[in-house]
Amino acid sequence: MSFPQTRQRRFRRSAALRAMVRETRVTRDDLVLPLFVVEGKGVRDPVSSMPGVHRHSVDQLVLECKEAQDLGVPAVILFGVPTHKDARGSGADAADGITQRAVEALKREAPDLVVITDVCLCEYTDHGHCGLVRDEVVENDPSVARLAETALSHARAGADVVAPSDMMDGRVGAIRTRLDESGFEDVAILAYAAKFASAYYGPFRDAAESTPAFGDRRAYQMDPPNRREALREMRLDLEEGADALMVKPALPYLDVLSDAAREFDVPLAAYHVSGEYAMIHAAAERGWIDGERAMDEALLAIKRAGADLILTYAAMDVAKRIAGEGSRQ
Ligand code: PBG
Ligand code: ZN
Repeated sequence: MSFPQTRQRRFRRSAALRAMVRETRVTRDDLVLPLFVVEGKGVRDPVSSMPGVHRHSVDQLVLECKEAQDLGVPAVILFGVPTHKDARGSGADAADGITQRAVEALKREAPDLVVITDVCLCEYTDHGHCGLVRDEVVENDPSVARLAETALSHARAGADVVAPSDMMDGRVGAIRTRLDESGFEDVAILAYAAKFASAYYGPFRDAAESTPAFGDRRAYQMDPPNRREALREMRLDLEEGADALMVKPALPYLDVLSDAAREFDVPLAAYHVSGEYAMIHAAAERGWIDGERAMDEALLAIKRAGADLILTYAAMDVAKRIAGEGSRQ
């Protein structure tokens, strides 16, 4: 049947009718809040390229996480930003490293909060690359060994989930083996499986002080044009033992996310990255868009494309809006 019998507008007439036929909802359970942890005490240092985002010392991190939990955000992902950096990223797997201390504090003070740790070397290395470097080349296999030790140290500190973001080949399998042989068979791996060499990571690198000192990450992160290769990356990570997969960034790669949702039956995460967050805030500050609506629409699109979990710096803002929900969208 077609017009005038069919009128698509009938279910759009009121907020209640629209809510009845709504196909997709972002819930607070979908949200994961990324947080930066720095040394010191009482530190709550604003990140200038990411309005509303701070770098916290461990004591402040605990307060922020309790607030997130009170708002209904179930999970955080931690990025340690150490003061000392060196060629091999010694801080990454140090038992008393910044991330390990943050995890221990959170597990003590907020035991029900899901703690995910980002596993990479770039925040800990003086050259800012995600692996070990020789003659300006990031060497895969030695890097994998360091990453496995890093993941193990996070598990020992109490992490529920480890999330390798380095894009070295074989790291998921190496991490799984290292965790299992050390008695951490219950710690899950969320693999940054389809992570692209993106322009949208700029603000993150300010916050994490992880801009590469030379070159770029194109020799290990994925090339943006490649859609089928993303499926292959994800399949390989699953074969190596990943429990959940991530696509990153989110909005520019919704096709990849949608492919993944159709292809795989594991939980799927998407990272609405720093540049995506910053762009919305920048335009909203100029009065060019309604920032809250644009943010909600972005996260909704990510969910609609197939994400089960959304990593977003707006998690607390969005959770507040969902709590006060009624007439949104
Ligand atoms: C580091 C890492 C990056 C992000 C998460 N983990 C940056 C990079 O690859 O340079 C980006 C997150 C964001 O932009 O919000 N491996
Ligand atoms: Zn990295």
